[in-house]
Amino acid sequence: FFKQKTAYDIPLRLVGSEMCIRDRYMIVGIIGSGGREHAICHALNKSKKIDKIYCFPGNAGTDAIAENINLDINKFEEIKNFIFSKKIELVVIGPEKPLVDGLTDYLESFDIKVFGPSKVASQLEGSKIFTKNICKKYNIPTANFGVFNDINQAKNFLDKSNFPIVIKADNLAAGKGVYICENKEESYQAVKEIFDGKFGAAENVLIEEFLEGEEMSFFILSDGITYKNFGTAQDHKRVQEGDKGKNTGGMGAYSPSRLINEELEKKILNNIIDPTLRALKDLKSSYKGFLYAGLMIKNDEPYLIEYNVRMGDPECQTILPKLNTDFGEIIDSCCNGRLNEIKINWNDKKSICVVLCSKGYPETYQKNVEIENINKIELNTNDHLFHAGTIKRGDVTLAVGGRVLNFVSLSDSFEESRNRIHQLLNNLNWSDGFFRKDIGYKVIKK
Ligand code: AMP
Ligand code: GLY
Repeated sequence: FFKQKTAYDIPLRLVGSEMCIRDRYMIVGIIGSGGREHAICHALNKSKKIDKIYCFPGNAGTDAIAENINLDINKFEEIKNFIFSKKIELVVIGPEKPLVDGLTDYLESFDIKVFGPSKVASQLEGSKIFTKNICKKYNIPTANFGVFNDINQAKNFLDKSNFPIVIKADNLAAGKGVYICENKEESYQAVKEIFDGKFGAAENVLIEEFLEGEEMSFFILSDGITYKNFGTAQDHKRVQEGDKGKNTGGMGAYSPSRLINEELEKKILNNIIDPTLRALKDLKSSYKGFLYAGLMIKNDEPYLIEYNVRMGDPECQTILPKLNTDFGEIIDSCCNGRLNEIKINWNDKKSICVVLCSKGYPETYQKNVEIENINKIELNTNDHLFHAGTIKRGDVTLAVGGRVLNFVSLSDSFEESRNRIHQLLNNLNWSDGFFRKDIGYKVIKK
């Protein structure tokens, strides 16, 4: 539905009013298929700059506002060929794996603009030991740690340790390579599983002091030159109410975090973010994209638990609806090294996301289950329904993943936002799903 020429048809050397035409009509691609990517797609779809969006591969939610392209996101060359064939100008990479695998570098080598960090910078998430070594060298507050390349040395160390203790695989493990061990037997087991290759071939294991405190997700985005804050949130990783049971990809989140204040923000920026960006610079690299610092806050002091080189999921679904500035402008300015020219404005609403999951998640669950009432859900302006593991088959929406739908609502109070979400979930009344009713309990007094 191109109203005018597409950006590719217009010569690059333009001035004045013609420049506006070029600025307005961008074709973008989004890599990923989760709730985070639907929220990104929704925010970009509202942008004045953007004319057309392709999602690789997207979900039933993105299908309604963009064109889903069923390509394997591990096949870089196929993605590049598609991007050229459709004249896509800018690509936003949602999940960590293609970033860690170097998709940004690959596409940029063909002069395609990418919002997402390089392979080197993505080691901040791809290798926990890489990050820990930066922490050590640049005095970034984090849990004390040791790296062991031999199972017996690791066990000797554990013999002398206090518990609980944290044991981690070095590489990407889809959130599963972290063990919080209460005693020596559990820790021996964790070390053995990691060296046995449960999370891929392991040369090292990371053993960390257990940090007490409350967790917070802190986000920035950067164009490689400057950076800006991009909100805070708290998520709920455990499957059961009261933060019990198995770890999941995230059962819900709220934004802003109750912990953030000006003093704490200063400490996070000065003691954690700035030295990290300096470290990348010293490695002759830089950071472009979202950076997500997973922090432990104890007595108003921040400690880095981990970095992620992307937005959080489901944190992203709570943060993007708070944005008042054109998201397309922000992303485009990041890809052009002009982030300093943009002012990012937010509304001050309280945002909550509750994730509706397939029964059985995070273990086994059924796939291809119809979500019967989804078309009957009526959203107000402050409500959002972001899809995750869904596909469209004809007029029918099917659940195909563990995390299926994200219900987001914004209001003047967290309690009101959550009540509204529960109302929507009750209207949906999907008997094959479940959700946590206590998302945001720390900010909602019962
Ligand atoms: P990670 O994948 O490194 O984020 O770890 C997953 C989760 O494990 C974190 O969100 C924390 O809840 C917990 N965790 C990781 N490292 C530590 C630590 N050193 N102390 C306490 N909890 C931790
Ligand atoms: N919400 C946790 C994550 O995105 O890793």
